[in-house]
Amino acid sequence: MSHLVLVGLMATGKTTVGRILAEALDRPLLDSDHQVEERTGRTVREIWATDGEDVFRSLESEALAEALDRSEPCVIAAAGGVVLGEANRERLGRADAHVVWLRARPETLLDRLEATDDTHRPLLDGDAAGTLKAMFESRGPLYLAVADRIVDVDGATPDQVADQILTGLDDERVGGSR
Ligand code: S3P
Repeated sequence: MSHLVLVGLMATGKTTVGRILAEALDRPLLDSDHQVEERTGRTVREIWATDGEDVFRSLESEALAEALDRSEPCVIAAAGGVVLGEANRERLGRADAHVVWLRARPETLLDRLEATDDTHRPLLDGDAAGTLKAMFESRGPLYLAVADRIVDVDGATPDQVADQILTGLDDERVGGSR
């Protein structure tokens, strides 16, 4: 039984879809940002502002390693930046994990962000549209490199995305056992 890991850009729905999957599969949900915030007692934005991105990236890598090391199969909503670190990409490749890239067009993500008051992502301060486009280009190949499966989330609700993922898991396992 492998971990089920969701990767993808900010606002693709990793946490929301992860919650649905965790409930459906009766597994714990580990969310990288929450792990970091619990461990440090500070928000992502606070860590970013006081300690900088490098410190945040180390904490994010530790959170991923911890999650992948868990012996029971978990659903892991990995923070968008985990694929930036080569060691993290190797870890995802080595681990007993089924990695799903929630792929979204930058326009979709921008629409979603504009529809909410969500301001907890420091990387999107300023030109969010330009940043998301640049990230889609630069990180796309990295998500692709670690993904066992790609699910396009444009126009889909979190329930529909979760259903697609669950159907894929059933198809991969003879007898449909998850
Ligand atoms: C980041 C994604 C965020 C958070 C931080 C940086 C990134 O997590 O870790 O703002 O570099 O893509 P989510 O993907 O959960 O929003």
